[in-house]
Amino acid sequence: MTAIEITPAIHWVGAMDPGLKVFDLYVKTEHGTTYNSYLVVGERVALIDAVKAGFEDQMLSSIREIVDPAQIEYLIVNHNEPDHSGSIDKLLELNPDLKLVCSKAAEPFLRNIVNNPAKEINAVKAGETIDLGGRTLELLSAPLMHWPDTMFTYCQEDAVLFSCDGYAAHYCPKAGESIFYRPDDPVIEHETRFYYDQIMRPFAPFSRRATEAVLQREIKVVAPSHGLINKAEPRRFVEKYLEWTSPKYSSETTLIVLVYASSYGYTAMMARAIAESLDRLDCEVKSFDASEADLAELRDYFESADAIIFGTPTFAGDVVKPVWDAAHLLSSVSAIGKKAAVFGSYGWGGQANDILEGYLEKLKLKVYTPGARARLLPNDDELAACREFGRGFIEFVRG
Ligand code: FEO
Repeated sequence: MTAIEITPAIHWVGAMDPGLKVFDLYVKTEHGTTYNSYLVVGERVALIDAVKAGFEDQMLSSIREIVDPAQIEYLIVNHNEPDHSGSIDKLLELNPDLKLVCSKAAEPFLRNIVNNPAKEINAVKAGETIDLGGRTLELLSAPLMHWPDTMFTYCQEDAVLFSCDGYAAHYCPKAGESIFYRPDDPVIEHETRFYYDQIMRPFAPFSRRATEAVLQREIKVVAPSHGLINKAEPRRFVEKYLEWTSPKYSSETTLIVLVYASSYGYTAMMARAIAESLDRLDCEVKSFDASEADLAELRDYFESADAIIFGTPTFAGDVVKPVWDAAHLLSSVSAIGKKAAVFGSYGWGGQANDILEGYLEKLKLKVYTPGARARLLPNDDELAACREFGRGFIEFVRG
């Protein structure tokens, strides 16, 4: 028996992938992962999420312990990333009448998974329910947790929350280990936080919104799409998301993060002039030398800051590496809409300002231009221009 009972009406019928080392090309998975599918049996049968391509046999074998796959009436697609949708084609081969259910935002994604224009897709609104006869599945909105398509499914009678990638962890039970969460397991706590940091954190405000909403409900079980099922402390990681989605730092005034690198001290001189002008304007300025900054701390500050200023010399026609390393952190936190600006010293060319401004705009930050520039050693006029740049930037931030 590989299907695992969660409640008499609900079974785990997913797949184990203990050997996975890296997920999505960048997330290390020291403990492998699972692709969790759940079978809900009322008078009619629903499957919640499928598994990654290549793992269909595990899923189908577990399903067959409960029902014939041809008896499944609904496939509820909480999310279309292929680790949960890659086996839909196999399910449709076995059961062409399977009704596909997803959020409205998911419909275009699912079309490109199914690749069959003739196949009907039932795109539902948040709050709609599916009555299985004895079990009612409510479809909850959880957009950008972590794709635009994401939704949760909630079994009203059993108070089971199928939370998709939310509150999940990449963890595959070892031989003989249960798929159910054990309280006070530091490995699971660590992996759940790591998963949040790697996958959910760029969309923190969206995770917070969905989490606040779902916490209004009775929750007896959290059944995520990866890792362990939490019956013992079902609200634990849901509540942890409230903590994790809160910015780590705060300020009574405008918090500006100023991060720069400087080979000969010229860009550092500009940084000091800008910071002085910001200090006078009642800002809290947190300055970092990017060449020696702790990137984890910098990431926390980026998430907390009201605005961010980058200082980079132009070397070989580009932004210098320590500043690129810092700027690349922005795609891993919720930074859309933050105000930003760039300054820097250069010898000739001076393209780094434009290159970095363009990158920040692509990440949907609001960029104050023109940035401040100085040719080699900043003279008095150029330092005065830096102070004016600081004043102008703050008007832009507060405006
Ligand atoms: Fe587990 Fe976003 O897929």
